Amino acid sequence: MFWLPLSVLAAVPLTLASPLAPRWDDFKVKHAWHDVPRNWKCEGPAPAGTTIDLRIALKPHRENALVDALYEVSSPQHAKYGAHLSKAEVAELVAPHPDTHALVNDWLSHHGVPSSSVSTSHNGGWLTVSSVPVSQADALLGASYQVYRHAETNDTLLRTVGYSLPAILHDHINTVAPSTYFGGPRAWRKTSHLTPNGKILPDGDAEIQAEIAALAKAKEASRLPGSLATVPSSCSSTITPSCLRALYNSSTYTPKATSQNVLGIAGYLEEYASHTDLKTFLTKFRSDATAAAFTVVTVNGGLDNQNSPGDEANLDIQYAESISFPTPNIYYSTGGSPPFVEDGNTPTNTNEPYLDWLQFILEQSTIPQTISTSYGDDEQTVPLDYAQSVCTLFAQLGTQGTSVLFSSGDSGVGDGSCLTNDGTNKKQFIPNFPASCPFVTAVGGTTRVNPEVAASLSSGGFSNYFPRPSYQDAQVTSFIKSIGTSFSGLYNTTGRGFPDISAQAENFQIVLSGRTESIDGTSCASPTAAAVISLLNDFRLSEGKPSLGFLNPLLYSTGTAGLNDITSGSNPGCGTTGFTAVAGWDPVTGLGTPDFGKLQAIVA
Ligand SMILES: *[C@@H]1O[C@H](CO)[C@@H](O)[C@H](O)[C@H]1NC(C)=O
Ligand SMILES: *[C@@H]1O[C@H](CO)[C@@H](O)[C@H](O)[C@H]1NC(C)=O
Ligand SMILES: *[C@@H]1O[C@H](CO)[C@@H](O)[C@H](O)[C@H]1NC(C)=O
Repeated sequence: MFWLPLSVLAAVPLTLASPLAPRWDDFKVKHAWHDVPRNWKCEGPAPAGTTIDLRIALKPHRENALVDALYEVSSPQHAKYGAHLSKAEVAELVAPHPDTHALVNDWLSHHGVPSSSVSTSHNGGWLTVSSVPVSQADALLGASYQVYRHAETNDTLLRTVGYSLPAILHDHINTVAPSTYFGGPRAWRKTSHLTPNGKILPDGDAEIQAEIAALAKAKEASRLPGSLATVPSSCSSTITPSCLRALYNSSTYTPKATSQNVLGIAGYLEEYASHTDLKTFLTKFRSDATAAAFTVVTVNGGLDNQNSPGDEANLDIQYAESISFPTPNIYYSTGGSPPFVEDGNTPTNTNEPYLDWLQFILEQSTIPQTISTSYGDDEQTVPLDYAQSVCTLFAQLGTQGTSVLFSSGDSGVGDGSCLTNDGTNKKQFIPNFPASCPFVTAVGGTTRVNPEVAASLSSGGFSNYFPRPSYQDAQVTSFIKSIGTSFSGLYNTTGRGFPDISAQAENFQIVLSGRTESIDGTSCASPTAAAVISLLNDFRLSEGKPSLGFLNPLLYSTGTAGLNDITSGSNPGCGTTGFTAVAGWDPVTGLGTPDFGKLQAIVA
């Protein structure tokens, strides 16, 4: 606050002195952590000259318009089912009130931000303010941006432990990033478990394929439909595309809509997918599909280093391709942390990879009908305002007709001691984001065959951020009733339950730098489920129907009959036995694993 001499005040024209003029120094906290997030240590101010690209999520004028539209076009019972919206129509739904633009622009110009550095993004729902000097960001947000270093990864980030907005802007701005989110997408795959128990098939799966063919023949001959398994027991210890195509009943389907239908894989953290490894993999495990090739799209400084294949990227693309072939696949390589420079000043990371990728994808005139992402983070480490804003960006994708799948995570009900980070240090199950966002389809993990059971790594539980959406109310309420007082106080009985569905998540054979290895994690499950969904989208498009878009209202209603209910296994964690998979929905395997043949009949 400036204290001006009275004489000067008197000279101020009436309009400026009006009590309605916003007070830009009237800060109110928007989000602040109780402590510096665990494992991060302050290293002091940013190097001179550091700038930040600030992303500002504006409140839409019509608060519920986007989500209302999402449910209309995604609920099979609704007259508008499948009538997905165009990019322009979505932009209209998320448009802020003109007053919001005016007020935010006033605030920015009051701080000397040139209007030339402000652009709209994310279908007009956000502003991107480019190259803001750190001191200006501090002044705008009543913040203190500092360099923080992670004790284990040694990553450095430019973040602030708290930030504020002038009181009047709280009704107009949902979140500002980067600010208090210290994490960033983390890959859900058990890298440390590369090849521990899984049997390796260096020469391919000819035996498994022969066994599948023999079982199918025997089943055909049998007069008791459904009485014989069609998946060999060896798939219990070694998963290949042949196992999954038999288990999920998609091996006889040939995609037809390959000029329209696309399966996208979102990649982060300098994970590169190798074309050579894919070729080797297909030669071994799906020799009729060696023509499969994927396109790499780099986003925001992401690279495509073919000399440095990543296990996550290779896993995703090898299973997406081998199940969806000949559907075109795109691998998005989104820049994350800046490259590590030995002996140099480590560049300071000011990125927000989800926002970068979402900004990019929402700018495209055509978006893949199915997208799989195997990255996430503990929900409590993601600021609530940020999580809510990002979650509605996934809703934008669904409204435009894209099925968005995320792996649920690899930590059961939670890793380690499971203490809350709000200062109370209370023990609680730890849900994951974005799996906890009600507008994505979260994919948990299973293992073994005949029967298929829950994988103990499968993350599942209940959000503390997002209330339970009505599409899952009946199934989730029924599960909660069935467990009585078990785990009472450890999970949120009113939160969104996840995962929604599941798929195999252990002993996946992949090729990495020419070698065959075995890998575990819900990172296996998400591309597998997404590839099956992509085949369903192919079927819909080839019949002249719209894509499936946001899947959950379908899955929790008519779609349930097309899923294999998983009824045993559990997801231990936080020093507990975790939840147990039961008949119907459960927070370990969701509604179950996909049966392509049955789902195809349902969506016909
Ligand atoms: C972390 O980075 C700093 C500076 O970039 C370096 O001096 C240090 O050796 C690194 N520590 C580890 C464990 O890599
Ligand atoms: C439980 O979830 C609701 C949202 O559904 C949230 O408002 C509430 O704060 C959560 N409770 C806890 C203890 O986190
Ligand atoms: C596989 O799909 C077919 C339809 O293509 C269906 O008739 C059959 O029941 C499904 N098989 C199993 C084992 O679910």
